[in-house]
Amino acid sequence: MHNFGLTERIARVDWSGIRKMHSMASQLDGVINLGIGQPDFDTPVHIIDAAKQALDDGYTRYPPAQGFLDVRQAVAEKLSRQNGIIADPETEIMITVGAMQVVFNTMLNFIEPGDEVIVMDPGYDYFSQIKLFRGVPVSVPLKEENGFRLDPADLRAALTDKTKLLVINSPSNPTGAVFDRALMQEIADIAIEHDLLVFSDEPYEDLMFDGREHVSIATLDGMKERTITAFTLSKTYAMTGWRVGYAVGPETVIAEMEKLMEHLVSGVTAVSQRAALAAIAGPQGCVDEMNAAYARRREIIYDGLNDIKGVSCIKPESTFYAFPNIKAVGKSSWDLAEYLLHDQRVITIPGPIFGDQGEGYLRLSFAVEDAELKEAIARIKTGIEKLTA
Ligand SMILES: Cc1ncc(COP(=O)(O)O)c(C=O)c1O
Repeated sequence: MHNFGLTERIARVDWSGIRKMHSMASQLDGVINLGIGQPDFDTPVHIIDAAKQALDDGYTRYPPAQGFLDVRQAVAEKLSRQNGIIADPETEIMITVGAMQVVFNTMLNFIEPGDEVIVMDPGYDYFSQIKLFRGVPVSVPLKEENGFRLDPADLRAALTDKTKLLVINSPSNPTGAVFDRALMQEIADIAIEHDLLVFSDEPYEDLMFDGREHVSIATLDGMKERTITAFTLSKTYAMTGWRVGYAVGPETVIAEMEKLMEHLVSGVTAVSQRAALAAIAGPQGCVDEMNAAYARRREIIYDGLNDIKGVSCIKPESTFYAFPNIKAVGKSSWDLAEYLLHDQRVITIPGPIFGDQGEGYLRLSFAVEDAELKEAIARIKTGIEKLTA
């Protein structure tokens, strides 16, 4: 097909593997979807009401590129109260189109051709954005025997004089692992020693199980001035479709993001920002309720998966993802995911989508109703035990 001279830059970007699984599934009926990374809940009613009110109040015009000041002020209060990050809403906070825009802007602003970007493997797919700007992703392995937590020695081994940026994502998609305070301090020490910029992607900060502490690396001594942090309302408030998140970072970084926002899309949809304000500044009981459901489902999936011959799964410490080891089943991750889809009508995500170290694992979302989750696990058990019998 004639491509009208599409740039080589854009050809470097791949379609996501998750999309590939979903397009295969779209041909089939009766499929249970454990593939999708979003809450199954509707956005809480008080947030929707605030959006309706905002429309009546005339929030129908271009918003400020950096986001409404009162939304940024509410974010600043939340950051101080919850994360321990003290940020100036005038200069150090920007409202964005989800955490995704912060990923994109960070890569755009800092990656020159040949710059190395350290990412975790398995980890969320930052590869496309890095490659778009001709950066070189350098993977640091996260090992199951270490609870999928970083070994600082592996980080040190990955550093070169071309390292430009370190990307961390705790709690982690896809493993559900959390980097605790001591580990964050070790990472911070390395970042300071090597004068690294850090991008910390924190969409799952509110989904902590067993009272675990979420530590934002920007709060550690000497880190705020070298850290860009991405937060989002997508997961905490079941607001994936509203497309609102925020960036916190040094003044110069936020100013560059604002400048680009003007050229890109002008700003985050006004009505979504008003809904976000209601979410951040409003009652938080809805978050506790959703988290209680995820906690219950975590037990269902953990017990269910570990009861399948050939499968073992460590307990996710956060997020709504389980990342079971399927090496003993004797099929590759892609083959098993395709088999489970066609034989049992369950969508799972092959681990290699999250990096080479993901081979031998699947990612399963437990953001689905309890009964559906139980049915999906029963189907997976039937399918896999046909293979391992
Ligand atoms: C680690 C990570 N970063 C970023 C995002 C994007 O989130 P948002 O909806 O805020 O753009 C996701 C969504 O799944 C994620 O898991």
